[in-house]
Order: sequence, then structure tokens, then C-alpha cells
Amino acid sequence: MVSFKSYFFQASIVLVLLFMIMTPSLPRLHVQVSSGEINDICSMTLNPSYCVELLQSTPGTATTDLKGLAKIILDLAHSNTSKTLDQIHSLIPKTTDPILKESYQSCSEHYDNATSDLDEAESDFKQGDYFGMNIQASGALDEAGDCNDETEGLPADPSLRKGNQDLKNICGIILVVANLLNGSN
Ligand SMILES: *[C@@H]1O[C@H](CO)[C@@H](O)[C@H](O)[C@H]1NC(C)=O
Ligand SMILES: *[C@@H]1O[C@H](CO)[C@@H](O)[C@H](O)[C@H]1NC(C)=O
Repeated sequence: MVSFKSYFFQASIVLVLLFMIMTPSLPRLHVQVSSGEINDICSMTLNPSYCVELLQSTPGTATTDLKGLAKIILDLAHSNTSKTLDQIHSLIPKTTDPILKESYQSCSEHYDNATSDLDEAESDFKQGDYFGMNIQASGALDEAGDCNDETEGLPADPSLRKGNQDLKNICGIILVVANLLNGSN
């Protein structure tokens, strides 16, 4: 059976490989992202329906270009990560089960690392290093998977599982947008 962790690992390898071989034809850098293009972008992500729903419900996505979209999604990833990290910090003192407590503590480290990965992704993006942006977003995606593994089989708070899923899905969108940006250089 393929474990969750190795699933994440393989997914990120595949996405990095995709990054290297893909020659995207859509969206042009300074042209507004249309809703058709949102569908095209989302169809390349790990979870297309999550992606469409998120991008359609996020203000600004319909009136921006690809770089603007990248910035919006990086910001979403950041705010998600900090919300989940706050949630983990509030769970730790309330948890008496020592094994569960330990897994929360380890998740808090994974989320600290995801936060630095996303900081790096953002600075790579600003410098036009879209390959670096892809690698860092893939690192943050792996941290979400690692945290999920930590809580495997434990009565973890459902909000943590949701946080991991959300971060995974959002990072999956960043990977695709970074690929497209790289291709339009
Ligand atoms: C977080 O990153 C640091 C520095 O790269 C590393 O030493 C540490 O093991 C990482 N923590 C986790 C939980 O992966
Ligand atoms: C992550 O962000 C999305 C979009 O803002 C939101 O719908 C979702 O609830 C957030 N998840 C967490 C765990 O904060």
C-alpha cells in the first residue's frame, strides 16, 4: 500500500518533473486570466474542483494576470498556514494525551518550516525565479503531508486534517502557476 507520505513525495517529484518538461501555451503573462483559463489552470492541479471553487470565490482572481494570480495564491497559502499554526498552538496546551500532544508539537515544527518555504517561494517569485518558487511550494506541500502522517491513527482535531488538505491543495495550485510563469518567460 502506498502511504500518504510517499504519495506526497511522488506527487511532488512528478510535479517537479512536469515543471521541467512542460511547455505551456496558456495564459500569457500580462493578459487577464479568463474564467476559461482558470478552468485550464485548475485542470492541471491535484484537486481541480477545489481549485475552481477557491479561485472563483477569491476576490481579484478574475481581473488579474498570471503574476497577479500567483501573488493572490501565495497570500492564501500564507494565511492558511498561519491560521493552521495558530490552531495547532491552541490545541497543544489543551491536549492531555501525550502521544497526540507530541504529534501536535511536531506538526507545529512542520508548519514553521512550511512558513519559511512559502516565504522563500514568495521571494523567488519576486525575483522571477519560478523554478525556485516551484521547489519551495513543493516543500510546503510535503510539510502538510508530514503533519498528516504524524497524526495518522490518532484522535487529532479535524481542523488539522482540513488545514493539511487545504495547504496541500493550495500549494498544488502554486506549482502549476509557477510552471506557467516559467513557460511564459
Ligand atoms: C525544519 O527545518 C529545519 C531546518 O531545515 C530542520 O532541521 C528540521 O528538521 C525541520 N523540522 C521538521 C519537523 O521537519
Ligand atoms: C484556507 O484558505 C481558504 C481560502 O481562503 C479557506 O476557504 C480555508 O478555510 C482555509 N483553511 C484553513 C485551514 O484556514
